[in-house]
Amino acid sequence: MEQPEPAHEHQGRVAVITGGGRGFGEAFGRSLAARGAHVVLADIDPAAGERVASEIRAAGGEATSYDCDVSDEHQVAAMFDDVVERLGGVDILINNAGLHSQAFNEPMANSGIDKLRSLFDVNLMGTIICTLAAAPVMKGRPGASIVNISSAAADGCQTAYGISKLAVRGVTVTSARELGGDGIRVNAIAPGLIFTDTIRAELPEAVVDMVKATQVIGRDGEEQDVVEAMLFLVSDRAKFVTAETLRVGGGLSIHV
Ligand SMILES: NC(=O)c1ccc[n+]([C@@H]2O[C@H](COP(=O)([O-])OP(=O)(O)OC[C@H]3O[C@@H](n4cnc5c(N)ncnc54)[C@H](O)[C@@H]3O)[C@@H](O)[C@H]2O)c1
Repeated sequence: MEQPEPAHEHQGRVAVITGGGRGFGEAFGRSLAARGAHVVLADIDPAAGERVASEIRAAGGEATSYDCDVSDEHQVAAMFDDVVERLGGVDILINNAGLHSQAFNEPMANSGIDKLRSLFDVNLMGTIICTLAAAPVMKGRPGASIVNISSAAADGCQTAYGISKLAVRGVTVTSARELGGDGIRVNAIAPGLIFTDTIRAELPEAVVDMVKATQVIGRDGEEQDVVEAMLFLVSDRAKFVTAETLRVGGGLSIHV
């Protein structure tokens, strides 16, 4: 199969990335813009989203940022309406926005209902809300593809965070089933321990050491490892792949 030049692989396509202001979302945005896509960075932190968008534009790419909370269906609908009006439709959706700080890794009894509700509102409902809003404007577009971001934490479900990410795996299967007829593939990535700024700042060294000791590949997981998985899943190389969750964790999950 002939492959397009990487710089043009997504030329003329529109990619919406939630949580695009930092971490994986920022890396996803930069990599898709470098391959010609107009990237839409939706983030609850508008300054972060706009910083990334303006740096992409300064480098010659196309990017727009939106102040958008994925758990608020009205904000999400308004964003997709505006994107369609300005850019004509959506080809790629990356449901990446998620809460995953240490605060969500404590026993559920310590978290309290409000915190648990906010976790599921963002990680689970945010994924569902954005998928439902995007599907009608992705329908029938060649190569339409959604990638959800789950986690290795789904495998053990040791915390509420793990439950929320197991649910993301379930949403991936259900969405793939429901949207397959519209020509939309839906897959997920389950990253292991990947050194984004948030992980570096928040995860205690003892936990890092413990997780790394269980990996088959002992080195640090990098954002680029997850970017490569995303680039595969949204590409034509994966055109027969849907409803799957691809683990990217250096073999972390073989112990589960
Ligand atoms: N870093 C890891 O090791 C790792 C491992 C497994 C899964 N994940 C998942 O990958 C995703 C990204 O992780 P990261 O490390 O880049 O996170 P991060 O915390 O560095 O960045 C998340 C971004 O999402 C935005 N955001 C948060 N809530 C939002 C909301 N309600 N609406 C819109 N935007 C919102 C934040 O402002 C931030 O810009 C998350 O879903 C996380 O659970 C990360």
